[in-house]
Amino acid sequence: MDRAYANDVLSWAYQQNPGPWYNHSLNVAKATEKIILELNKNGHDLNSTLAYNAALLHDIGRFKGFTESVIHSYDGYMFMKELGYMGNAIICVTHSFPCRNENIENAANWSLIPDYMKKQLLEILEENHDYDLYNKVITLCDALADAEGFSILEKRLISVGLRHGTNLNTTSHWKGFYKIKKELEDLIGRSIYSLLPEIEKSIYTNIDY
Ligand SMILES: [Fe+2]
Repeated sequence: MDRAYANDVLSWAYQQNPGPWYNHSLNVAKATEKIILELNKNGHDLNSTLAYNAALLHDIGRFKGFTESVIHSYDGYMFMKELGYMGNAIICVTHSFPCRNENIENAANWSLIPDYMKKQLLEILEENHDYDLYNKVITLCDALADAEGFSILEKRLISVGLRHGTNLNTTSHWKGFYKIKKELEDLIGRSIYSLLPEIEKSIYTNIDY
């Protein structure tokens, strides 16, 4: 619940492994807070500081350096669990799986993941298959913010696909984001994009690949 502390944790992690993921994390947190506040305007009672901090730390596993996507989730989970923040730990894993029923074994480069890690990731997802609103908002915002600012979903998904590759499961992964987007837009009665300042700039800039 302490934004200064969450920022300190992120800054420490950035010093271990500097990279664009730091600004991405700040932007995911900003987008998350905007959507959470809009949900509250529409009758929900969500804690914006809790959401902001969980979003800020969703990629904290990057402190270990460049690893496969699922490994950064696992490292983040272990790190936040060690600090005693189980909610944050779970989001480190679940944000990588927008589609709840997604076959985890189709995750990018699953064959490179050590067995003990696979087992634990499967257990975490099984125990936490009911995503709450915090979880859904952060998962969506991960796909709406890069290091430069906010981005339309299509651009960000294609950019990730170009950088990390795609597989047979990619379309169900993408559908998971669109499903969350629609669900949240139904709750707030407007486009998510209308909450993210200057998102339109993302259509004029080059894509990372
Ligand atoms: Fe992320």
